[in-house]
Amino acid sequence: MSLTAVQAGAYTHHMAITSPDPERLAKFYSDTLDMGEPVRHGAGWLVRGPGRRLIVSKGAKNGLVHVGMGVRDPGAVADLKARAEREGLAPKPFDGGLFNAGAFSVMDPDGNVMAFGHAPEDQPSKGLRGPLQHVTFATRDIARFEAFYAGKLGFAVSDCVVRESDGKVMTTFMRSNHEHHTIGVFYQERTGVDHHSYEAGEWGVMKDWCDCMGDRHIKLDWGPGRHGPGNNLFAFVTDPDGNWIEISAELEVVYDRPARTWKHEERTLNLWGPSKLRA
Ligand SMILES: [Fe+2]
Repeated sequence: MSLTAVQAGAYTHHMAITSPDPERLAKFYSDTLDMGEPVRHGAGWLVRGPGRRLIVSKGAKNGLVHVGMGVRDPGAVADLKARAEREGLAPKPFDGGLFNAGAFSVMDPDGNVMAFGHAPEDQPSKGLRGPLQHVTFATRDIARFEAFYAGKLGFAVSDCVVRESDGKVMTTFMRSNHEHHTIGVFYQERTGVDHHSYEAGEWGVMKDWCDCMGDRHIKLDWGPGRHGPGNNLFAFVTDPDGNWIEISAELEVVYDRPARTWKHEERTLNLWGPSKLRA
């Protein structure tokens, strides 16, 4: 049997990134993102808060090691792996340390590694609410990116942003459960991560996040505002390596609707005010 990513109930469980100074970056997340004291994880550092985990290891600034996608149960991991095999994605056994046995990884056409696995039950932890909820990428080829995630892994397209002048797709948001997007992609003349996002759920908690940033003299780069696609409230900050972090709330839950198309314009990215078009 094979399952799509949506049928497997995939969700963004953790991210592993590189930094020239991984301990310093882990400490930033520990303090600013309320993710506990860094602990050693292999050659790197692991920090974690409620529903969010980040591994930082030594390497280039802004480098992605992998995105860890949790899957609802071990059988669904095996069935999603069967789909990846059938689609010619050559899944490899994955041992990143945060998933139970049976996890696997695939590499997308831009070289991003996506690991899928069943996660051990989380230990209750205190701290601001905000699970890691989505990761977005930059790509030079959105059609190829979408063909991989939607066409082969079985993500569902929730919304697209299209340039009116020539019909070019500039952004695609894809889901692997009922949340509006767990993966997004922006057309840019580069590849790699665009941003990652923590979902606070509601405005009051998001306000607490903004107060947390203010207490630490960290200026918001953008927002608070409200995105068109996903309808989520947002505020962005940047970590010391220049990784772009979103705090989000009220993200749309999608049931039984077709994908929608939005104009590539400032208002699509921010219904409330100034915007940041990527291209
Ligand atoms: Fe986002």
